[in-house]
Order: sequence, then structure tokens, then C-alpha cells
Amino acid sequence: MKLERTVADLRRELAGAPRPVALVPTMGALHEGHLSLIRRARQLGATVVVSIFVNPAQFGPGEDLAAYPRDEGRDVRLAREAGADLVFAPPAEEVYPPGFNSRIEVGDLAAELEADPARRGPEHFRGVATVVAKLFNMVGPDVALFGQKDAQQALVIRQLVRDLDFPVRIEIGPTVRDHDGLALSSRNRYLSSSERRRALGLSRALRAAEALVEDRELEADRVLAAAHAELEEAGVVPEYLELRGAGDLSPAERVGGETLLCVAARVGPARLIDNVILRAPAEGTLRPRPLTGAAT
Ligand code: PAF
Repeated sequence: MKLERTVADLRRELAGAPRPVALVPTMGALHEGHLSLIRRARQLGATVVVSIFVNPAQFGPGEDLAAYPRDEGRDVRLAREAGADLVFAPPAEEVYPPGFNSRIEVGDLAAELEADPARRGPEHFRGVATVVAKLFNMVGPDVALFGQKDAQQALVIRQLVRDLDFPVRIEIGPTVRDHDGLALSSRNRYLSSSERRRALGLSRALRAAEALVEDRELEADRVLAAAHAELEEAGVVPEYLELRGAGDLSPAERVGGETLLCVAARVGPARLIDNVILRAPAEGTLRPRPLTGAAT
């Protein structure tokens, strides 16, 4: 497996590489969620590229850029074991050289929920869209894989690809959970054991809502009340807990079609997000698979 640091070396290495090329963009601190994407990329691509870049442009002033976990040696080993052919780990000045002065602005989808100024702020998705567009231009992948845990990011990237005609297919991998339901996140390592127990309130809230929907309760108020009750019991105050259309983030009054229930909350030093896609059960169908347990 190769490790490249410059765009020139990356392009030289990929010039004759077998296609399709599958890209898994990451900020490192790899966990099973990333590794499941790399394994899926291995199934899809003849060449698998994993990028590791802690993108300063997507961190707000009060966020954890300096503290963000970095362990390149470990990440490179895990990426190789999961099936990567090439890791691209550029220094910041390779991605943002002196004089760099462009930003990609994705419209409405990138202007709410996480982008609220009281949360990650409007710069966040500009930073994500800009670095993802740059990575697409640098790597030239045929397919790129992202995780459903960052549901809004996944929608923003799909919009970016549609609007700017990137010739890349986007595949979204399922959220991977710990045995007790906690969605895997690089930020979980900030949690003490008691905070980690409280953090389970997020996935329990989603599961409570899911259970209600399975019992055919589709009214937003009731579904949200069930989720709020679980958060309250865990002592977690959500930054938001919302039902939105899964394709366009439009506010949902009822669960119908695919409806995204998304939650964000601070637990101790960690800001955590999670979500589930709710679907109204068809008449006469069996109960769907529960949310707990590791997704594969
Ligand atoms: O999801 C992430 O890890 C990051 O937002 C991404 C897509 C790698 C861009 O920096």
C-alpha cells in the first residue's frame, strides 16, 4: 500500500491505476464506521484510496480542531488492513496553499440544522463542500463513500455532485453502532464512562421513536415526544431533535415515505449527532429490524 502526501505524487500513482477508483474521504481517527466503508470500497473499486485530512476549514472557532484525535500510523495500518491500496495524507499547505481563497457554497441544505450559527455555523458545510470538491479533483474517483451518521453532510455532498457535475457516484454506508447502540464517532473518545452512559440517550431516543412508528404512530408530535422522554431520562439536553424529509430536510409533520429523525447534543466535552430514517410500515408487514447492534 502506498502513502502519498502531494497531489503530484497522488496523480502520478493513480495515472495507470486500475479503475474503478473508490475513494473514502476521512479525517482519520478511523473506527469501525470508516473501516466498513473501506471494505465496501474494496468490493466496488479496483483501486481503493483513503484520504486522511483533518480539514481546518470545516471547524468553527470554538471547535476541537487542535484536540481532534490524530494517529496517522494507526490509521494507515487500519486502512491497509481494511483493503486500501493508497492513503492520501496531505499536509494542510498542500490542500490550502498560501493565497488559497475559494469556498464552495451549497444552498439551502447546507444552511440549517448543523449550520445554525449556534451549532457548527455556516462555514462548516462550506469547508466540507470545498475540501470534498478538492479531493474529487485530486483523486478523480468513480465512486466515493460517506457515512449515514452525517446525514446532512451526505445530502450536501449529493447536491454538490449534482450541481457541479462531478463524474462520481456517491454511496452512503449505514451508521455503525457499538453493541449498546451508541453510534461510532471519533469524538466518542472524549467521553468519560459516565458520559458515555448518558450518551446512550441519543440512540435510545431514536429507538423509542422507531418503536412508535413500527406501532403505526406517525404524528411528529408524538414521535418526537417519545424521543424527548428518552433524552430527558438520560439527562441529555438536545441542541436539536427534528423530523425532516430524508431527501430534502423539509420539516415533517408526520412520518411518511422516508423521514429522517436527527438529533444533536453535547455530552460532556463531546458534541454528538445521530439519526435514523423512519418509514411508515406498510399494512400487514412484519416489524423491521431494531436499531441496536452493529450495522453491517
Ligand atoms: O465526514 C468527514 O470525516 C469529513 O467531513 C470529510 C467528509 C472527510 C471532509 O473533511
